[in-house]
Amino acid sequence: MQHKIDERLWHELVHPESFSGEVRFMEYMKNHTSLRIGGTADVFASPHDVVSLKNLLIALKNKGIPFVPVGGGTNLLVKDGGIGGVVVSVRNFRRIVPLKEENDRVYFFVESGVPLQKLVSFTKENGYSGIEGLAGIPGGIGGAIAGNAGAFGYEIKNVLVSATVMHSGGEIDTISADELGLEYRSSKMPAGSIMLSANIKLMRDVKEDIEKRIEGFLREKREKQPLSELSAGCVFKNPESASTSGGAGRLIDEAGCKGMRIGDVEVSTVHANFFVNKGNATASDFVRLMDGVRKKVMEMFGVGLEPEIRIVGRE
Ligand code: EPU
Repeated sequence: MQHKIDERLWHELVHPESFSGEVRFMEYMKNHTSLRIGGTADVFASPHDVVSLKNLLIALKNKGIPFVPVGGGTNLLVKDGGIGGVVVSVRNFRRIVPLKEENDRVYFFVESGVPLQKLVSFTKENGYSGIEGLAGIPGGIGGAIAGNAGAFGYEIKNVLVSATVMHSGGEIDTISADELGLEYRSSKMPAGSIMLSANIKLMRDVKEDIEKRIEGFLREKREKQPLSELSAGCVFKNPESASTSGGAGRLIDEAGCKGMRIGDVEVSTVHANFFVNKGNATASDFVRLMDGVRKKVMEMFGVGLEPEIRIVGRE
């Protein structure tokens, strides 16, 4: 039987000596998503270390309480009914550790809560090439790997060696990049597991060259994407069938959807594949706008758009 977790049950299940971390009850997920949308999670927990995470997952499993892992909350739409169970955040897992260097290749251990942009800055400051095209993509390393984040022909896939995950029972597994099956905006990350860390490989390169490439990509992003507004990045994946005609953004644009609005959610007038929160947007408005846009693109081009963003929670 599934229990609803509240403060009392939490204290019964999770002993202070077995868990170090921050815990909040009835926490609004809008405080943890780049869209600033989302109802309350029964519990929002950010363990300080892997042992605390393991103890937590075991306790939850024993009681049949579900959990939802979150990273940076930047590719995420949480429904207005919030999330039943425990939201587990890896935001405290933040180490970047050099492992070894072979010729010009440098290997790093990176924890899943490291913000992708912190890693990009680190590589820029130290002269490591490989993820320049990921400059400006928000979110953490865990999410970047699970969704194979990419832009400008760069993908996290190109630098990934292996990833270490914790399964729902607390078991830890290291999975090679091949086994993880990273493809366009997707991976075969085992369901119900949490990304702990990754080993990545970069190349030594001239700092100024790396910096120039990053600046170029950021400039292009600032011109083409509504970066100063609240969004979750691209809402839909680029459909394979439309790859030659410019992807989801162009289809949505050409279907006449720019500026379409439901409540406080608007199809960006800058880039049509970004939906922006103009103030007090709700998830139900967001989903209705997705449906409306999908319908228009289907009518006009016969193409079915698939969401790129992850949608979780209760109605
Ligand atoms: N376009 C339009 N109207 C629009 C938007 C785009 O006509 O409103 C046209 C552009 O003029 C261009 C073409 O569509 O000719 C492609 O647009 P863009 O260069 O902006 O690339 P995209 O395919 O829309 C992809 C990724 C972005 C990534 C950029 C840059 C997807 C779904 N989108 O966008 O990733 O930043 O390339 O490499 O893969 C994300 O994943 O969240 C994301 C934003």
